[in-house]
Amino acid sequence: MTDQLPDNNRTYYHAYEDRYIAVYRSGARFWNPHEPSSALAEFLDTHDYSNKNVLELGCGEGFESFYLASRGLNVTAVDISPTVIEKCRALASDRGIEINFRVGDMTQLEALAGKSFELVVNVGSYHMLHQHRHRERCLREVNRLLVPGGRLFFQNGLNLKEAAVYFPEDSERIKAFQELRLKYRPGQPAPRRVVINGREETISLPISPKTWFGRLDDYAAEIKAAGFKGEQAFRTNRDRINIGWEAVVIAGK
Ligand SMILES: C[S@@+](CC[C@H](N)C(=O)[O-])C[C@H]1O[C@@H](n2cnc3c(N)ncnc32)[C@H](O)[C@@H]1O
Repeated sequence: MTDQLPDNNRTYYHAYEDRYIAVYRSGARFWNPHEPSSALAEFLDTHDYSNKNVLELGCGEGFESFYLASRGLNVTAVDISPTVIEKCRALASDRGIEINFRVGDMTQLEALAGKSFELVVNVGSYHMLHQHRHRERCLREVNRLLVPGGRLFFQNGLNLKEAAVYFPEDSERIKAFQELRLKYRPGQPAPRRVVINGREETISLPISPKTWFGRLDDYAAEIKAAGFKGEQAFRTNRDRINIGWEAVVIAGK
C-alpha cells in the first residue's frame, strides 16, 4: 500500500514522518493533541453508525479514530507515517481498544481490496494532497471502498481568505497565521510548542510541507465530481484540529 507514490512526490507526502520522529525524540508524547472533532460528534449523534465499518484516512495520532471506536464503530485507520501508526498501535494496546491501524497512502488503497465501509472519515489530511490529481485519486478510492448508500465525512482546513470573510471576529488571528506562513517556507525549521513531561517547551521543526486549503465550494465541487451527492456543507471555526478554520462536507455515495 505504501512506497509506490506516483510522480516522485514521496518526499512531500512523507514529510510528516520526519516531523513525528523529531517530536517523539524530543520527549513529547504527542505532536498535536486535540479533542475529537465536534462536527463529527454531532454527525454521529444524528446518524447511527454503531457496529458499522469506518475507514479513517490520514489519521495522524488517532484522536478521531479512538473517538469513533468509543462510539461503537469498527475502525480501520490509515496514515502514511509508519512512526505515527506505531504510536497509534501502542496507544490502542495500552487502552485495550481494537482498531486496525495501517500504514498506507490514501491515494492508493489497493491493500484494502475486498473490504467495504459504511463510512469514510477524512479530518485534517485531504489538504495535504496539494496536487489535484492526487485528491481525485483519493476520492476515487473512497468511492470504491464505500458501500452503496455509504457516506463520506470530510473536515479540512479552509482557505484563509475565505475564513477571513466568514469569521471576521478571527481576523487578527487569521492575519497572524498568514504572516507566519510568509515568514517560514515549507521545509524550513521553525519553532514549535510541544508538551514534554507536562511542561510546554519549544523545539525546532521543519515548517509544514506544502498544503492546499480550498474554499468550501472547491472541496464540495471535488467531492461531487468524484460521484458523491452532497448532503451538508458548512464552514466552522469551532474545532481547533488544524489551523482553526475548516470546511465540513458530508456526502453520500
Ligand atoms: C495535519 S495531519 C492530521 C492528522 C489527523 N487527521 C488529525 O487531525 O490530527 C495530516 C496527516 O496526514 C498524513 N498524510 C499525508 N499524506 C498522506 C497520504 N498520502 N496518505 C495517508 N496519510 C497521509 C500525515 O502523515 C499526517 O499524519
